[in-house]
Amino acid sequence: MEFSINLSVPEKTAADCLVLPVFGTQLSTLAAGLDKDGWLAETCNELGDSVGSTLYIPLPGRRVLLVQLGDEKKLNADALRKAALAAAKALVAGKSTSADIFLAIAAAKTLGLKDAVAIIAQALVFESYRFVQFKSEPEVAPVLTAVNIAVSKKSEVEKAEHGLQAGVALGHGMNLTRDLGNLPGNICTPTYLANAAHLLAASYKMKCTVLEKPEMEALGMGSFLSVAQGSIEPPKLICLEYQGGKKSEKPVVLVGKGITFDSGGISLKPGLDMDEMKFDMCGAATVMGVIRAIAEQGLPINVVGVIPTCENMPSGKAVKPGDIVTSMSGQTIEILNTDAEGRLILCDALTYVARYEPELVIDIATLTGAIIIGLGNVASGLFTTNDQLADDLIKASNETGDKTWRMPLWDDYQEQLKSNFADMANIGGRAAGSITAAAFLSRFTKEYTWAHLDIAGVAHKSGAAKGATGRPVPLLVEFLTQRAAAKKK
Ligand code: BES
Ligand code: MN
Ligand code: ZN
Repeated sequence: MEFSINLSVPEKTAADCLVLPVFGTQLSTLAAGLDKDGWLAETCNELGDSVGSTLYIPLPGRRVLLVQLGDEKKLNADALRKAALAAAKALVAGKSTSADIFLAIAAAKTLGLKDAVAIIAQALVFESYRFVQFKSEPEVAPVLTAVNIAVSKKSEVEKAEHGLQAGVALGHGMNLTRDLGNLPGNICTPTYLANAAHLLAASYKMKCTVLEKPEMEALGMGSFLSVAQGSIEPPKLICLEYQGGKKSEKPVVLVGKGITFDSGGISLKPGLDMDEMKFDMCGAATVMGVIRAIAEQGLPINVVGVIPTCENMPSGKAVKPGDIVTSMSGQTIEILNTDAEGRLILCDALTYVARYEPELVIDIATLTGAIIIGLGNVASGLFTTNDQLADDLIKASNETGDKTWRMPLWDDYQEQLKSNFADMANIGGRAAGSITAAAFLSRFTKEYTWAHLDIAGVAHKSGAAKGATGRPVPLLVEFLTQRAAAKKK
């Protein structure tokens, strides 16, 4: 899809489809020149009144897509996002090859042009996504190839271009995350993820190093390697370094759980929906998507992505309940349930990243089923003892609609991790399962500021819409964007 930002008016555009905003029953005044007889304005009564309702109207030689933006006074980023996604969905499903979109002009008054354009561009990239590489009968590909986002003044073009770039980059980042997440476990192995990281690094001149099993053994990553030992797929520790800021600036480190398939190991999972455990690398995919989005924009900040990745499989060589392993930190862990493997690979990665002397560390992991019980598929769980970091992440969450909800991380929960035989157990019983998982990780993050995002409920959808969502890429890209902006001041 080719995007452009041009001055445009509905009566003069050459595009196949005009996307026009409606506030309630009021057709935007932008369309006045096109709608001299008032016929279009009348059809607005046919449009549903909930934000994001769309209606195609055929005109001679072209079509109009009406999009409901709701009450103009209540228009905010959430409403525009909803409307833009609906409009993009209708456009991509339609037969138009080119479109001229007049939503940004209408929303700029309240949201600012840059953010309005970013939201619209991101929606189009997001809704154009198809995962069809394993279908032998290809479904008809979307035909929409040229999209103009209209502005009303020449002086606005530059601002709008910035929004376009940010929105497209975010869309691309999310779609990379979705692609990696949707790939089946037999293709998307740890080795595949390492290759994908090398490719990403090559596209944006980033440094990428991949540690192999012998190097991890030398580092003493006994916890991570115990998870990997049941699989014939070799484990990898992927390190991607994006330097958008000065060399001397401390990086933000993102650590992503990369279990390319979680069978549970010897503590085997039940069969129902086990296929969805291919999504257990969505934390890793999020890290790659975020880095893709910020590198494409050249965001002035340093970010390191670290991805421990392996399979969790049962076999004669697999780690067993009761086994005791020694983590890179020196702390010993009694593995009471081999299905609590995410924390076992993350703890060694979290110890490892101290060498980057991070400004802060955020890990992203499909860590617990319990977070789905607590927060459903709406919000990720946010765990940190640092109030400032929590506030910054929640702010980014509010601004993007990529919801996160802060959970407690009091020391009281540490008690549940007691082991009779080692420094700690890897599970804490049924109560507060997501919190004890976070409490476990916190024991390996004492040297830096840290937050943990449990994304088990938001990273993918089940049922008819089964697939990776690209979350929480928007949340993290916004967080990093705000940090980069704050630094400049
Ligand atoms: N990958 C799972 C968590 C998960 C569950 C993600 C459902 C997405 C959907 C994780 O490795 C796991 O198995 N966690 C266990 C922990 C338990 C054994 C303490 C769980 O949540 O059941
Ligand atoms: Mn598991
Ligand atoms: Zn898992």
